[in-house]
This record gives sequence, C-alpha cells and structure tokens, in this order.
Amino acid sequence: MKTLFAILICTVVNFPALAEDMTSHTQPLSVINDDSRQLVNYPPDVKAHALANMRGHLKALADIMDAVANAHYAVAADIADNRLGMNSSAAVGCQPKDMKMMQMSKTYHLDYQMQQLMPEEMRVLGQNMHRAANEFAVKARDADKNIQSITEANMALTKIARQCVACHESFRMQ
Ligand code: HEC
Repeated sequence: MKTLFAILICTVVNFPALAEDMTSHTQPLSVINDDSRQLVNYPPDVKAHALANMRGHLKALADIMDAVANAHYAVAADIADNRLGMNSSAAVGCQPKDMKMMQMSKTYHLDYQMQQLMPEEMRVLGQNMHRAANEFAVKARDADKNIQSITEANMALTKIARQCVACHESFRMQ
C-alpha cells in the first residue's frame, strides 16, 4: 500500500514535468505552421543546385555519424573536412561575395550566383556550420588517439547538426 501511494504521488508530482516535456516534443509542428522564415529567392537552376548541395550535406552528416558509431574517428574527421568543411566544394556558395572564382565551370558558376545572392545573415550561419565541421574534425582526430576525447567529439558532432537547424529555422528557398 505504501508503495502504491508512493507511485501515485510520483505520478501526480511528475505529471506537469511530463506534460512540459511532451509540449517541447510537439513544438516543431507549431513552428512549421507559423512559417516566418525568410525566403531566399534563387533562380530555379541556382535553387536546384543549392538543394542538391543540401542533400550532399545530409549524406555527409550521415556518413560522419556512421563512422563515429563504428569508432572510425579519423575517417569521420576526413569526411567532415573534405565534404563539409570550410575549404570543401560544399562550402563554395557560402564564401565571401568578393572571393575570386578561379574555375568558371557550370558548378562554379552556380556557386558564384549563390555567393552573390545569399543574404549576409545566411552566409554567417552557413560559415558557422562549415567551421563546426572543421572543429569536429579536430576533436575526432583527438578521439582517434585518445579515447577520453570521444565525448568532446560527440559534442562537436552535435554542434554541426545544430548549425543546420539554426539556418533551417530562419531561411527557406520555396
Ligand atoms: C546557411 C543555411 C543552411 C545551412 C547551414 C544548412 N542548410 Fe539545409 N537548407 C537550407 C535552406 C534554406 C533549405 C530550403 C528549405 C526550404 O525551402 O524549406 C535547405 C534544405 C535542406 C534539405 C532539403 C533538400 C531538398 O532536396 O529539398 C536538406 C536535406 C538539408 N537542407 C540538409 C542540411 C544539412 C544536413 C545541413 C547541415 C549539415 C544543412 N542542411 C545546413 C539552408 C541551410
């Protein structure tokens, strides 16, 4: 009886916390319905290019998580630097507007237009994400040598994903 009473008390006392927790989990729906994101008005070919770049970001992130899950930290670091980092081709569209375009291939032409048309606040968020990828790579290489650094590498991985979310909350292309 005492135990039952204790369970009842716990349930009643914890209920508001549980309700609050459930609200925070359902919140994204209201965020989606109340769409105050800024529209970035790229021409169709630039938009298609930017969205393909995004799908590449998601693939890179999944591959990084896969490598981390398998404790292949050096591999995860290379993917982050080469496919998401500030010097990767995935970051060309987020480079400063005045960056010289050395190669004027079709892809570079589209990246060039992205650079020119991207709102400055979005560029900052983009660069934050690409830099977070480089910072993760440093932590992942530490983790490769020293098991103690795994938590820091995991935190840095989360930070990449948080930067994706930050931009998605503020901007849209369609
Ligand atoms: C600087 C801003 C920015 C950053 C950083 C960013 N995105 Fe995006 N992403 C966008 C915008 C804007 C869209 C279009 C969303 C819309 O129109 O609803 C988009 C769309 C996408 C899409 C949909 C692609 C499609 O074909 O429709 C995916 C997937 C995606 N992003 C993944 C990511 C991932 C993963 C990251 C982080 C590694 C990331 N993005 C970082 C701005 C960003």
